[in-house]
Amino acid sequence: MPHYVEPLFRPPSEARSLIFQITIGCSQNQCRFCGMYKGKSFHIRPLQEILAEIDEIPAGYRPRIDRVFLADGDALVYPFDDLCTILDALTTTFPGLTRVSSYASPNSLTTKSAEQLVLLRAKRLKILYFGLESGDDATLLAINKGFDSGRMAELALKAREAGMKLSVTAILGLAGRGRSLQHARATAEWINRVNPEYFSLLTMFQRHNDDFIRTLQQCTRRELMLEVREMLCHLHPAKTILRSNHVSNFLDLAGSYPKDRERLIADVDLALKHAGLREGFLDEVPSYQGEYY
Ligand SMILES: C[S@@+](CC[C@H](N)C(=O)[O-])C[C@H]1O[C@@H](n2cnc3c(N)ncnc32)[C@H](O)[C@@H]1O
Ligand code: SF4
Repeated sequence: MPHYVEPLFRPPSEARSLIFQITIGCSQNQCRFCGMYKGKSFHIRPLQEILAEIDEIPAGYRPRIDRVFLADGDALVYPFDDLCTILDALTTTFPGLTRVSSYASPNSLTTKSAEQLVLLRAKRLKILYFGLESGDDATLLAINKGFDSGRMAELALKAREAGMKLSVTAILGLAGRGRSLQHARATAEWINRVNPEYFSLLTMFQRHNDDFIRTLQQCTRRELMLEVREMLCHLHPAKTILRSNHVSNFLDLAGSYPKDRERLIADVDLALKHAGLREGFLDEVPSYQGEYY
């Protein structure tokens, strides 16, 4: 059975997936806001270990496995030929396998050519989870993401053109008070350009990132709601599902573009109206300190 090096993270939508941890940590691991893998030193696990773990799944369970998630923080960085061998082993071992997915940092996408992504897609690597965080270059510089918005769009479009589905995350409150609205508008424009299948919003939270939080002029709930409203007013992707249902968010939003565009903005307006009735609520800085991602 899989042996995990904790902590182990997966996207909420991978709750039903069997997880194999083919890399440990994150190949970038320098984003100032992100403490997810700070306690791990990045390495690629040997191919034979992964193949042995796949082979250890008892025969009685194998037909029930239809989804696999490859961890850790950017498993797409795994060397191409060996990643193909892993995907082939998954297909052979699990006859009902419909999809494989993984996190994909911008760095991990630089390690695969367009042709290699097409081959990985053909071997059922169908969904990549990609952390944009912000479409605003000043914000990306401040968080040390390591890539500007234009380069991230090129990398994301390379994956889309290879036929992969993209699930993109951005973080409300990441730019602090100073650049809140620029962050909102530039992020919306990036999403309009790349048109990913899924766009998820999280809200900036404190966990193993104290230095970054200390330098951030944190947004109040009102400012966060105005930020998300500004983003929604500039969002018009051709076909994207928006989810803002992470545990860090105090306002859940869900809808599909283009159909739900106006309703989503109206949902925020209604929430602002109701929240305004609770004395002082909108003036507080939310204090969610994440234990889970
Ligand atoms: C494993 S990464 C996503 C894939 C890949 N490593 C990347 O950065 O492209 C998980 C995502 O969780 C979110 N995240 C991490 N730390 C966070 C924090 N402290 N507050 C809010 N969101 C956070 C970011 O959107 C980040 O991209
Ligand atoms: S946001 Fe992604 S790329 Fe950046 S340190 Fe966290 S896991 Fe690594």
